[in-house]
Amino acid sequence: MATPNEGITSVNVKAGGLTPEGYQLIADGVGWEPRTTGQARDLIINARHVVTAWDKGTLAGMARASGTGAHYAHLSDIAVLPHLHGRGFGSAILRHLLRLVDREVRNDATVTLHATPGTEPFYERFGFNPSATPFLMTRSRQE
Ligand SMILES: CC(C)(COP(=O)(O)OP(=O)(O)OC[C@H]1O[C@@H](n2cnc3c(N)ncnc32)[C@H](O)[C@@H]1OP(=O)(O)O)[C@@H](O)C(=O)NCCC(=O)NCCS
Repeated sequence: MATPNEGITSVNVKAGGLTPEGYQLIADGVGWEPRTTGQARDLIINARHVVTAWDKGTLAGMARASGTGAHYAHLSDIAVLPHLHGRGFGSAILRHLLRLVDREVRNDATVTLHATPGTEPFYERFGFNPSATPFLMTRSRQE
């Protein structure tokens, strides 16, 4: 499935690279409920995939995916530091994460995320659709 800004090259995104302190920095930056270092470490260790974005060598954003690698994947903790919003970091992170997910899950797998209210249009650009459960968005790979 095609995703927006396929050709963008200026944003540096990679698999991995997230530390508990980095997680806390991004989560604090976007105003999420604080996590202890141990909690942040668990979220990273238990993720199937972690993606980070970098701005001139400094952590700019993150995202995680959990799941079986076959029948479902759930994306979470998708966030970019506020002063960098609107510069393509979020799209680059999500695109990279979806590449990692799409290459391993079955064609009939369900890919889900819980959208923060107001962010649905951002995810719709990547093929996610609202579900009957409020703010749960699903992405079919067969459309
Ligand atoms: C949602 C988020 C990750 C997007 O990151 P970003 O780096 O600003 O996204 P991009 O710069 O790649 O934006 C891509 C496009 O989506 C649009 N977009 C970004 N956030 C949007 C939102 N909340 N609502 C609608 N459109 C949005 C941008 O305007 C841009 O459109 P354009 O290409 O026409 O200019 C970022 O706003 C964020 O970290 N928010 C706080 C944390 C959060 O709510 N995360 C979601 C958890 S489910």
